[in-house]
Amino acid sequence: MVRSANILLIADGCCPSLIIYNDPFAQYYLPFSFSRIFCWSEGLSSMRILYSILSSIIATFFISAYAAPPRNLDLVQRGDLPAWIQGEVDNPSFFIKKDKEAFCESQYLMLSCSASSNRISAKQLRNVKLGERLPVGGQNNFAVYSLKGYGYGLRFRSSNLIMKVFNTVNNAAIGEAKALNAVGDLVASGTVKALGSKPAIIMRKKPGQPLYETQAYKAAREIVREKMRNQTYGLMCNEISTVATKTYVLHDDNNPANILVTMDGNAVKSVALVDYGPPQTYFVSKSVTKADVSKYCGCEYPSSKRYVWEHEFPYVTPPPRT
Ligand SMILES: Nc1ncnc2c1ncn2[C@@H]1O[C@H](COP(=O)(O)OP(=O)(O)O)[C@@H](O)[C@H]1O
Ligand SMILES: [Mg+2]
Repeated sequence: MVRSANILLIADGCCPSLIIYNDPFAQYYLPFSFSRIFCWSEGLSSMRILYSILSSIIATFFISAYAAPPRNLDLVQRGDLPAWIQGEVDNPSFFIKKDKEAFCESQYLMLSCSASSNRISAKQLRNVKLGERLPVGGQNNFAVYSLKGYGYGLRFRSSNLIMKVFNTVNNAAIGEAKALNAVGDLVASGTVKALGSKPAIIMRKKPGQPLYETQAYKAAREIVREKMRNQTYGLMCNEISTVATKTYVLHDDNNPANILVTMDGNAVKSVALVDYGPPQTYFVSKSVTKADVSKYCGCEYPSSKRYVWEHEFPYVTPPPRT
C-alpha cells in the first residue's frame, strides 16, 4: 500500500485500486472507479500484466500530480520566515493601548479609547480639507486623497502629505498606523466626517511614482526596461534593509506599486517605499543586520523573490520599433 497526500493505492493481488479518500473534490477529477474499469481484465494473464503496468503508471501520475504542489505555488511561497522576523504588524499582541486608540472617535469606543485621546484624534483630523481623490490602485484602501490648505502643524505643508482612507477600523489599520509611526511617516490618524467617518491616516507623501507608470519606462524597449527594473530592485533592497535595521519594520510587501521611483533620464535615481500595511509588513528583532535583510530580500541574483517581483510588473505595451 502506498499513501501519498490524499491517495491510497491498494495492491490487493487481484485488482489494485486507487482510492481518493477524504477529498470533497475527488468526484470532479475521479468520476469513476478505477477498479471497475480495469477489473474486466481478470483471468486473461497477458491482459493482467498489461493492466498491472498500466495501473501503476496511472497511479504514479495521479500520486505525483495530486501530491505535488501546483507549480506556481513555488513563486508565491515566501518560505519559512527567519527567526529575526517577530510577526506581522497587525498581530494584536504587539498593540499597546495607545495603538488601539489610533482611530478613536465616539463610534469606535469599543477600542477602549480614553476620553482625552478620543478628543485628540478627533481634533487631529477635524481640519482636514480634502484635495483630490488620487487615481491610485491598491487592495486595502478605501481611497487615497491629497490634502489642501493648512492646519497640519508648522512642520507640514499639505502638499507634502497624503491621506489613506480605510474601510473600517481593524487590526490591519491599527497595525499600519503603528508601523508608519515606527518608520517616522505617520502624521495623524483618526476618522474623517466628510467621508462618512471612515478611518484614515495622514502620512508623509513620498516622491516618485511606480516604475511602470514613468514616462521613461513606458517609452523604453524591453532591454532598457529590464535594466530599470534591476536598478529599482537593487535600490529597493537597500532601502528595505536600511529601514528595517533603523526602525525594526520590514517592508516586505514590495510589489511594484508600493515602490515609487524618481528617474534621471533612463536611470533610476532613488526609490521610496510606501504601504506599511499587512500582509507582509513585519516587526523585526533589534538584533537584525543589513546582511540578514539583504539576504532575505533576495538582493543577489538569482532569487525566487526577485523572480516573483519581476512577474508582478503590469504589462505595458512596448513602444513601436522605429
Ligand atoms: N506615503 C505615500 N506617498 C505617496 N504615494 C502614496 C503613499 N502611500 C500610498 N501612496 C499611493 O497610493 C497607492 C495605494 O496606497 P497603498 O498604501 O499601497 O494602498 P493598499 O494598501 O491598498 O495597497 C500607492 O500605490 C501609491 O501610489
Ligand atoms: Mg499597496
